[in-house]
Amino acid sequence: MSDIESSLHETRVFNPPVAFSKHANIPSMAAYNAMCAAAEQDYAGYWAKLARDMVQWHKPFSKVLDESNAPFYKWFEDGELNVSYNCLDKHLATQANKTALIFEADDGKVTKVTYQELHTRVCQFANGLKARGIKQGDRVIIYMPMSIEAVVAMQSCARIGAIHSVVFGGFSSKSLHERITDAHAVAVITADAQMRGGKVMPLKPAVDEALSFGACERVHSVIVYQRAGCDTAWDAKNNIWWHDLVAGQSNTCEPTWVGAEHPLFILYTSGSTGKPKGVQHSSGGYLLGAMTSMQWVFDYKATDIFWCTADVGWITGHSYVAYGPLAMGGTQVIFEGVPTYPDAGRFWKMIQDHKVTTFYTAPTAIRSLIKLGGDLPKQYDLSSLRLLGSVGEPINPEAWMWYYNTVGGARCPIVDTWWQTETGCHMIAPLPGAMPLKPGTCTLPLPGIMAAIANEAGDLVNDTHGGFLVITHPFPSQIRTIWNDPERYKSSYFPAEMQGAYLAGDSARRDEDGYFWIMGRIDDVLNVSGHRLGTMEIESALVANPLVAEAAVVGKPHDIKGEAVVAFVVLKGALPTDAAKARELADMLRNWVGKEIGPIAKPDEIRFGENLPKTRSGKIMRRLLRGLAKGEEITQDISTLENPAILEQLKNAVR
Ligand code: PRX
Repeated sequence: MSDIESSLHETRVFNPPVAFSKHANIPSMAAYNAMCAAAEQDYAGYWAKLARDMVQWHKPFSKVLDESNAPFYKWFEDGELNVSYNCLDKHLATQANKTALIFEADDGKVTKVTYQELHTRVCQFANGLKARGIKQGDRVIIYMPMSIEAVVAMQSCARIGAIHSVVFGGFSSKSLHERITDAHAVAVITADAQMRGGKVMPLKPAVDEALSFGACERVHSVIVYQRAGCDTAWDAKNNIWWHDLVAGQSNTCEPTWVGAEHPLFILYTSGSTGKPKGVQHSSGGYLLGAMTSMQWVFDYKATDIFWCTADVGWITGHSYVAYGPLAMGGTQVIFEGVPTYPDAGRFWKMIQDHKVTTFYTAPTAIRSLIKLGGDLPKQYDLSSLRLLGSVGEPINPEAWMWYYNTVGGARCPIVDTWWQTETGCHMIAPLPGAMPLKPGTCTLPLPGIMAAIANEAGDLVNDTHGGFLVITHPFPSQIRTIWNDPERYKSSYFPAEMQGAYLAGDSARRDEDGYFWIMGRIDDVLNVSGHRLGTMEIESALVANPLVAEAAVVGKPHDIKGEAVVAFVVLKGALPTDAAKARELADMLRNWVGKEIGPIAKPDEIRFGENLPKTRSGKIMRRLLRGLAKGEEITQDISTLENPAILEQLKNAVR
């Protein structure tokens, strides 16, 4: 723990612009403090009021929070609702013709969809799902490109009470298979291909391959959206085109009313073992969190053009693409392509073309765009912007300043939002009309979120030394369990020593103003380009290769990606005889990991050694490997090391 001390000393402070605060949903620190005080005074009453004000209930709830079976908390349990109703039907009386989605394809083609049209498309597709026998509680895998159809697929599942599990299109067939089988899915919704950077990248073959791995007998339907029109292998037994499924379906579909605790979705994320965790979210509490954070952190206004660049394969694309903006009745941009195609000005051009007011992206994208064209934003009219956001990893002060000055014209507050797949929505983030900002901190918890720093014994600490980031009270949008693994849910997030608090898995410190500075993960999870990767998952993938005897994976700082993956590998046979052979083997293993998990998990660097540094009891000393990966001189005590000579070998290994 003594290692957990931040070396950042940022002193710049940016007060909320007066003009912004004047119209902000939470206009001052006094307003924020009053909300926090209300939550402190009557925690259940505070959330109950918000849930009644913001969510439309088919049947009102009478119970607010049930803690009797902690940590399996229940919120608003006897209330009934439908999330798709809250995102679509609710708006039809007042704004049926408002644009809900502005979809920009990879090639620049723009398609706009109104709330009425989106409602129709969701109803038709939901009826199609029903026609395939898919019903409430069934699990449906969605493996799709960023598209209007991906949103329709998610909303349609929600409409009929089916539980979706979106798998990011960059994951391999192996990862897809793991998720299909763990969720016991009955259907997969996919596309023939996705278009990225002018290239056709097939998706359906990965689904076919995943199903061929076996244990997928429950999958009775593979629904394929024809995006690219490329040649697609077809199994008439259970494959059906999206357009055939919806043809002739009625454009109304009565929503299936579900209990507030009904699982809306499962989203797999990496943890500290080789097996990803199926994070299960609720309907009522999750929706409430998505809405309150839109209202408070994104300061949602009916006139906004909101753009969150995240893919629907991640939690950010759930809360701030598929659900939050629609539940608020907003207009949002959805983008199929990549920020660098046709050139690194794509984001800025899109902000200009669509008059985006609120732009939300990841620090890794910001850093790579600075590198590819730090002056490019100046060539575009970005005056529509009023608010910027950042998510996924700490934003370094230099990137923050560039974002603030060059993109935001020193006019737009930046909301640096700390949260996780498990929290469902923002937890610690600035309320932009209220809080003074400091580059690099996500500032203060949202009103009603009891975030704190604990020491190893679970006692809360208030000094500016670091500790474990915890949330001491249950909150509506939180994870309900790990699908199929309630024990892992308890041990991962509510270990006994944390005294009942939710353990986030990050370390953090607070400064003299109480602002939180996130310092990194406390477990074996890496954050590469804002994506969570478990070191154990990559290690398991490596040792699954017949040539590999043992592997250890660590992270090292990377200018653009935040963290890079470094793998230390022991082969079953002899060490590669020369540098060329070592590189060839490393490339082969990189591609192997790409196939096992997905291209995002490919190690940046692979070093071969005859062994790994281990204690006499056989434990790998990762701390030393981290030092080696960073190129540091090893100054730590290595007296407990079984094989000290291995350090020299790994240090000098070809890479
Ligand atoms: O380490 C934190 C980092 O991302 C982790 C959550 O990853 P994931 O579940 O994939 O969700 C990412 C999108 C919400 C956290 O445990 N993280 C996320 N946001 C921030 C962050 N670290 C620092 N600052 C942030 N704003």
